Amino acid sequence: MNRVGFSSRIGFVAAAAGSAVGLGNIWRFPYETGQHGGAAFLVVYLICIIIIGYPVMVGEISLGRSAQANPYRAYRSLGTKNWGLLGIWGIICGIMFLSAYNVVAGWAFGYFLQISFGDLLSTSDLPGKFGTYIADISDNFFYSLGFMVLTAIIVAGGIKKGIETASKILMPLLFLLLIGLIAYSLTLENAMEGVRFYLIPDFSLINVRTIYSALGQAFFSLSLGMGALITYGSYISKKENIGNSAGMVVFTDTMVAFLAGLMIFPLVFSQGQTPTQGPGLVFVALPGIFAQMGLITGKIVGGAFFLLLCFAALTSTISLLEIPTTYLVDEKRWPRLRVVILSATVIFLVSLPSMLSHGAIDFFTRFLHYEGVDKSFFDLVFDVFSDVGLPLGGFLMMIFINKKWGMKSFDEEMTQGNSNFVTGILKTFLHFMIIWVNPVLLGIMVVVTVLQKFFGIIIF
Ligand code: TRP
Repeated sequence: MNRVGFSSRIGFVAAAAGSAVGLGNIWRFPYETGQHGGAAFLVVYLICIIIIGYPVMVGEISLGRSAQANPYRAYRSLGTKNWGLLGIWGIICGIMFLSAYNVVAGWAFGYFLQISFGDLLSTSDLPGKFGTYIADISDNFFYSLGFMVLTAIIVAGGIKKGIETASKILMPLLFLLLIGLIAYSLTLENAMEGVRFYLIPDFSLINVRTIYSALGQAFFSLSLGMGALITYGSYISKKENIGNSAGMVVFTDTMVAFLAGLMIFPLVFSQGQTPTQGPGLVFVALPGIFAQMGLITGKIVGGAFFLLLCFAALTSTISLLEIPTTYLVDEKRWPRLRVVILSATVIFLVSLPSMLSHGAIDFFTRFLHYEGVDKSFFDLVFDVFSDVGLPLGGFLMMIFINKKWGMKSFDEEMTQGNSNFVTGILKTFLHFMIIWVNPVLLGIMVVVTVLQKFFGIIIF
């Protein structure tokens, strides 16, 4: 198959890191950490990243490069026709995931515009303002539509021109702004209370929910479990050292999430807010601080922050839209432009209930009741297709590598681009994780998560 691939190694790492670094790091990671015990969650999260996240990422990339195809074709050609269904499941997760993700990207886009040019900057009643803001469908509709259109335009440009260029420029900017905001937030009154919450663990806070939330967060943040990295892996050269590249992606992603936490918690505590408030956390904690900087500075710094948050989200929505796109281009041989328009339209329509889930329509806002609280349609989408769907995809991929593709093929793929692989310690680690630890751990976690989340049955 003649595939136009990434032009260089740094191009692939930048694009994969661009996919990984997104709302998951800056929006979701801090509020998950806040809700599940602060530093204790951070510790569990880091363990998940090392023993599960990294091996799953290496597995996905090596499958993709070996098959040179979209997830469906990859599982089919390296396995059997039925295994192709696992690829389809990944594609469905990708579509549903993006439908909800794009709503939050729309919030970020709206905050960027309203902070830069509008009157969102204020120090009073920020939680209330955020609540009113996301309930207001008239603005949000256009912001998330705008975001989807932007994503579609870049994806229509193809792998090299669009995705690679955007990632290379924007990622370093985000990093710099984060560092600047951390320096600022650490100087505020009570900042150290936030640092303590974030960095000094109280292990008595860990329970099974902490663990499955951390695991779900790891899959969310590293873009695992739905074949996004099978797709990206199919575009890289055989000379690439997969172990190293994946290591760089994991490191970058974890670093950005860690820094986001270090930025947010001092802000939250210095303003006397609670860290457990959930999805509003970033949108509520930051504008107050920007307002305190004075009108002009606040608009500039606040605008820049939400602009970069949009960029981070954009490199992720691109990778998500690329999943159904590569699939349809490969399988149906339709022109890329037509495929992109079709997928983006369908996903946008699917996102409407998620958009209406924040107070606009009561039916979607209180869609179901589980985990002891009312859950919106939007919550349900992330719970099913992210917290459960992604670890499930990872679990089945582990089974696939063990039983179908074989560790021998895995070793061969890894050896291309790293001739020392078979004699090195990395191989020992990856084999141990892929053969023993991950299938068992992921299998247990998926079952436990489903039972506890949806049936209220607590196993341990
Ligand atoms: N990792 C991204 C984030 O943290 C989200 C994302 C993009 C993703 N592509 C993905 C998640 C593919 C799972 C699979 O914001």
